[in-house]
Amino acid sequence: MAYNREYFQASADYLRTQVDFVPEIGIVLGSCLGPFAQTIENPVVVDYAGIPHFLLSTVASHAGKLIFGTVAGRKVVCMSGRFHSYEGYRFEELVIPIRVLKLLGVKSVILTNAAGAVNRDYRPGDVMVIQDHIKLNGDSPLRGPNVEDFGPRFFDVSRMYTPELRKLALDCAKGASLRVHEGTYMFFPGPQFETPAEIRAARVLGADAVGMSTVTEALTAAHCGMPLLALSVITNMAAGVLDQPLSAGEVDEAAEKIAGPFSDYMKTMVAVI
Ligand code: HPA
Repeated sequence: MAYNREYFQASADYLRTQVDFVPEIGIVLGSCLGPFAQTIENPVVVDYAGIPHFLLSTVASHAGKLIFGTVAGRKVVCMSGRFHSYEGYRFEELVIPIRVLKLLGVKSVILTNAAGAVNRDYRPGDVMVIQDHIKLNGDSPLRGPNVEDFGPRFFDVSRMYTPELRKLALDCAKGASLRVHEGTYMFFPGPQFETPAEIRAARVLGADAVGMSTVTEALTAAHCGMPLLALSVITNMAAGVLDQPLSAGEVDEAAEKIAGPFSDYMKTMVAVI
């Protein structure tokens, strides 16, 4: 499959027939953070399955819907459900959603995820504003022929988590009922959780939290020059930090608990971004 501009344009053209406004902000919701989507006013919901050239969510906690509407007076489009390499998608395919948002006219992107804390000062229920990431595993989503329409072959990623948006997120945290940190996210491809040894290595390398998503979307947004904010919801202490096994149930439960206050925090940011 040639991932040329026309490929992504087909998805965007279809979506234009479904909504009559251009969303300003694109939001990707991580595992069990779907409740934010319920706060969208006048929602127009489009199933991923109906969008040409799009992908399908295969994870139960990811709804698989694109929701257009208004949050805090701003026009948004929200991906309720994202795509991961562990589902079997090739890294190159993971550029699709962000490129479609770009072609729809979205100006800035907010990515969210559930993550495990490597930093022992963090607790489940905290939020981490991603300052930077470490990705030593898996290919780049920008691998393969470069689509110049989106960005150059080689591109800078030293400010990809937009400093102004990070500052805004930290400022908004002052009025929030959540503990908000700023830190480094390390990507692991999953679907297995990490080993305790991998977590010790991640800590030595400077990671504060680990997860299986976000960086492919972040790199795609950086490639096409979109301002980007990425937030991790800490759902658990990473493997080996506590003397107990990890479970997906623990992650889902923690994400559900924080979903309400996290939605409120997101809203304050959407209002001023
Ligand atoms: N590791 C990887 N991904 C995750 C974790 C974790 O501990 N928690 C939530 N997503």
